[in-house]
Amino acid sequence: MLATLTSRWRTALAFLSLLASTNYISFTFGKTTTILGEILLYGQANSAAPPCPQNATSAAGGGGGGATTATAPMLRGSGRPSYHEPSPHLWESTPVVEPHAGRKTVLVTGAAGFIASHVSLALLERGDSVVVVDELNDYYDVEVKRNNLELLREKAREVSERGGGRSSPEELLAVYVGDVNNATLMTAVFERHRPGWVCHLAARAGVRPSIDDPLLYVRANVAGTTNMLEYSRLHSVRNVVVASSSSVYGESGSTYFSEAEDVDRPVSPYAATKRSGELISRTYHRLYGLNVTNLRFFTVYGPRGRPDMAPYKFIRSISEGSRIDRYGDGSTSRDYTYVDDVVDGVVRSIDRPYPCEVVNLGKGSGTRLSEFIGLVERYTGRAANVRVMPEQPGDVPFTNADVSKARRLLGYEPRVTMEEGIRRTVAWYNETFG
Ligand SMILES: NC(=O)c1ccc[n+]([C@@H]2O[C@H](COP(=O)([O-])OP(=O)(O)OC[C@H]3O[C@@H](n4cnc5c(N)ncnc54)[C@H](O)[C@@H]3O)[C@@H](O)[C@H]2O)c1
Repeated sequence: MLATLTSRWRTALAFLSLLASTNYISFTFGKTTTILGEILLYGQANSAAPPCPQNATSAAGGGGGGATTATAPMLRGSGRPSYHEPSPHLWESTPVVEPHAGRKTVLVTGAAGFIASHVSLALLERGDSVVVVDELNDYYDVEVKRNNLELLREKAREVSERGGGRSSPEELLAVYVGDVNNATLMTAVFERHRPGWVCHLAARAGVRPSIDDPLLYVRANVAGTTNMLEYSRLHSVRNVVVASSSSVYGESGSTYFSEAEDVDRPVSPYAATKRSGELISRTYHRLYGLNVTNLRFFTVYGPRGRPDMAPYKFIRSISEGSRIDRYGDGSTSRDYTYVDDVVDGVVRSIDRPYPCEVVNLGKGSGTRLSEFIGLVERYTGRAANVRVMPEQPGDVPFTNADVSKARRLLGYEPRVTMEEGIRRTVAWYNETFG
């Protein structure tokens, strides 16, 4: 007994000194116990110092990951990694993957942010365990992100109570604050939780700031995605879903942007990082047989939306009666997608481990900026005070998703019209700030 306790203390101390060396903070679920430094952890401290990623091996792929080793999946007898050549032009004949129905442990990155917090709520609601990694950067008000994490904690408690305590809130949700490029943190997270499924949505988002600081975007989006793919293959994750963006279509002249298009002419560093994420995903599939789907989101809006994006800014400014800057003559058109539709698409994609795909998730039709502003005026009951500004470098004038691939492969069907989406978002805004 004494020997066991002593050995537990030794491993605990080893972990504490590891945390100390990397400046972590640990908060236990509901109790906010500060240990040291930088990680915020809703859950218990890891019991041992994690090995370096190159040596990492694990025995079970949490949430149904199956037996795992640090090596790439091999074709039986061939000695070579299994490989499915994705064919963007032939997706009509791609065999449709049946959804995995069991309970999962899903690692969701960026879940203090807008889209990933909604995705995490949906996963918790259906009974999955969610492990969050988010660095809580100050790209916008960190308080917004803390509130999003608080919502996840509330949901974990509610689901636990509903299930009669079969799963504790700690089993349903663990939150780590840190950079996905932090090897010590990511090794600890993968070793401790063994997620069978990864949904990598963390990124530096925003086109214009990427022009001012491209290296920041490369580190977060290109290195960050590569890191997530690397850990996923080392831990034999069953399916990785990565956020890409409609911005990869750049100045495409098509009426409907299709995944079959050549997208190698990005017009902003942000778009280039998102395209790079798609390419490195394909490489990981090619080399290691990792299942990975990149989802190209089209201007997502809705409750708790990103404060730097036009839908949120317009609703706030028009509600408050302050001036809005409209870039261009209002004829630019975007495929605005309501967040619930995107969440539905992301969850469908997590459940369907396609070998290697890129899929648009949009509404499937564009709305002119002037029409968009008109809808906000209607639902806020206020007239917009518009200042017309020149179009911005890096902005694309027109986006419109072809969602037929998402329909076929994921069973995705966007349901929320622009009018309904604006109505719901304004209602949320009034409830929150009114
Ligand atoms: N919102 C949209 O309209 C839209 C459109 C296309 C693509 N996307 C993509 O969808 C994803 C989610 O976007 P969002 O709008 O929710 O953005 P968001 O900024 O609200 O969320 C991103 C989160 O990632 C975190 N993060 C950033 N870098 C990190 C790092 N290195 N390590 C750990 N966490 C990090 C941030 O702190 C933030 O909470 C992003 O990948 C974005 O590029 C969004």
